[in-house]
Amino acid sequence: MPKTRSSFVCQNCGYRAPKGFGRCPNCGQFNSMVEEIQEVAKPAKQNRQPTGTLRSTPQRLGEVSMDIGERLYVPMEEFNRVLGGGIVPGSIVLLGGEPGIGKTTLLSQVSGVIANEVGIVLYVSGEESAAQIKMRADRLSIEAQDLFLLTETNLAQIIEQVNRVNPTVLIVDSIQTMYAEDLESSPGNVSQVRECAGRLQSLAKSSGICVFLVGHVTKEGSIAGPKVLEHIVDTVLYLEGDPFQAFRLLRSVKNRFGATSEVGVFEMSGAGMVEVPNPSEAFLAERVVNAPGSAIAVTMEGTRPLLVELQALTSPTAFGNPRRTPNGVDMNRLLLVSAVLSKRVGLRLHEQDIFVNVVGGMKIDEPASDLAMAVAMASSYYDKAIAADLAFIGEVGLSGELRAVGQLSARLHEAAKLGFKRAIVPKMRRKVDDVPNGLKLIDVRNIAEALAVAVPRE
Ligand code: TYD
Ligand code: MG
Repeated sequence: MPKTRSSFVCQNCGYRAPKGFGRCPNCGQFNSMVEEIQEVAKPAKQNRQPTGTLRSTPQRLGEVSMDIGERLYVPMEEFNRVLGGGIVPGSIVLLGGEPGIGKTTLLSQVSGVIANEVGIVLYVSGEESAAQIKMRADRLSIEAQDLFLLTETNLAQIIEQVNRVNPTVLIVDSIQTMYAEDLESSPGNVSQVRECAGRLQSLAKSSGICVFLVGHVTKEGSIAGPKVLEHIVDTVLYLEGDPFQAFRLLRSVKNRFGATSEVGVFEMSGAGMVEVPNPSEAFLAERVVNAPGSAIAVTMEGTRPLLVELQALTSPTAFGNPRRTPNGVDMNRLLLVSAVLSKRVGLRLHEQDIFVNVVGGMKIDEPASDLAMAVAMASSYYDKAIAADLAFIGEVGLSGELRAVGQLSARLHEAAKLGFKRAIVPKMRRKVDDVPNGLKLIDVRNIAEALAVAVPRE
């Protein structure tokens, strides 16, 4: 019998220790250490080959080839955009998201189009039976000769089948269900997840197959089977959105082959994910004009400007502490903006509950949408609607001043494209060039000046 050794591994950060702790000494998580049995490796032989697939000698920087192989163009523009212009052969991509958000749906559709237009796809599912996947594929009207299904969770078997089928793209749904036989721990454990991902990465690099891994996220919102997974892969994508809303955002948070924070926008329909090429238009589609408490912000998601409607409602606090309820915006920004409105403009918000909502289920964390949030709150407070042709861009500082934001020109063009006639922006030290025709810039120094234009008090 091979000798075994037990050790304790933190399921949150992957820290390993010979004995368990109630609290992980590395990341501070409570009750996260789990015992794992390991076989003790045979002593290394003198002539052992180095591990890893890449053996190389030092090269001069100038002589290094930049050839990453030709990107495979997926006939699904929103998906390509997030990947940085297509799939890079030999790369490994992790797609994370909450259960039920649409990861399997999206990847089934992507497999369908790739199998039809690019090459063979092997879809490995550890969660659903082949019949279930077929039913979904029928619902999504996926018909592809070159799409192969495999329901398997044993990694060695999967790699054997990959060598047989030799696909262009391999999809593993999900990495938490896979296991390597030679490891004692159960599937989903951090050692299994890390080992399986590591082996699939070597497979991708040595064979040129592009691998997509589906990863579940934990309650806290990070991909289960910790950060180590994010280090192994080349690209990390998150599919996010409000499950009660139709819009889904595919966001890249790490990309070794392209820009990060790119987003692709989809709409979940009865027939799967539908691309939304003009998201601003879609987000503003249900806008009610002349309603108090609504303001339009122009945010940037990667290189793409997006117009979103921010709604605020202030209502007198019934008793006790006033409540602050953000939905789609950061709580801290909501607190900051409401404090600035109280102190610098004199709104009596300390006796008001405040609710802020981003329409369409979007999440915005860009400070450039502060101004829209402030104006929406003031508009609800005074019960006075904001003119429908006004868009707002600007970050709010602690003394009520408006701070400049990046990529102003791209934002202005998007606003003009959607028919906005005026934009309130922070006063710049130099003249803004490239202002679109038909859009009037109103530059203001502080929040009080912005309110004087947006919600005038006579
Ligand atoms: P799924 O892709 O299974 O989510 P994940 O793999 O991220 O866990 O998506 C499941 C949800 O999507 C389910 O609640 C039903 C919904 N759905 C649609 O609205 N339309 C469709 O065409 C499909 C296939 C699913
Ligand atoms: Mg799924």
